[in-house]
Amino acid sequence: MRKKVIAGNWKMNKNPEEAKKYLEELKPLVENTENEVIICAPFIDLKCLVKNSKGSNIKIGAQNMHFEDAGAYTGEISGSMLKSIGVEYVIIGHSERRQYFAETDETVNKKIKSALKNELKPIVCVGETLEQKEEGLTQEVITKQTKLALEGLTKEQVENTIIAYEPIWAIGTGKTATSDDANNSIKSIREEICKIYGQNVANRVIIQYGGSVKASNAKELFTTSDIDGGLVGGASLKPDEFAKIVNY
Ligand code: 13P
Repeated sequence: MRKKVIAGNWKMNKNPEEAKKYLEELKPLVENTENEVIICAPFIDLKCLVKNSKGSNIKIGAQNMHFEDAGAYTGEISGSMLKSIGVEYVIIGHSERRQYFAETDETVNKKIKSALKNELKPIVCVGETLEQKEEGLTQEVITKQTKLALEGLTKEQVENTIIAYEPIWAIGTGKTATSDDANNSIKSIREEICKIYGQNVANRVIIQYGGSVKASNAKELFTTSDIDGGLVGGASLKPDEFAKIVNY
């Protein structure tokens, strides 16, 4: 049985003081869950979150990283830097980074390799635009993105990678994919992984759904056959709402 993994993606929200307060509120609300709980926060919050989450069941992730370990890349943060402060996860290839910051399938692949080399667990985002969905291209787009993201990884590395299926038209719009559609898309990603890496890997890899997940739809989404939890944006910003999703 795969574990459910529920990750909050705060995006560009909360300073360290707000982050610390949030964490103190969230801790008692999720302490009894068997699900994996992750908060992916802005870089400046990470050190404080790692320190204050010690001894709890909440893990901390970043929202991006550079693929080199060090060098002349002004404004960037590397995987080895994240590892050095105790971060355990990193979101890679979020659609907002692909759209606004020129992230490509190639840089996504390089970042995943660097994350794994630095013993960080990547949460890799794939998803189709509304246009692609309307043209019936969803499965083609997301299986291609998955294949390119994972290119050159060993089976063991793929098992250590989390995929987040986030249809772009569902992000921040209040429009959630139906649980059937989301489950079918995730099944097609799992089938693609099976084709390349075999059934055992496909059975083990965690694939989340993201896009307007909230307390009222979490249960329906997370109790399908193939959806292994969620990557939650807006609804992760309030501890009580996020806790309800974790404890769906
Ligand atoms: P929302 O939950 O706000 O739709 O955002 C989803 C997302 O982009 C998580 O990475």
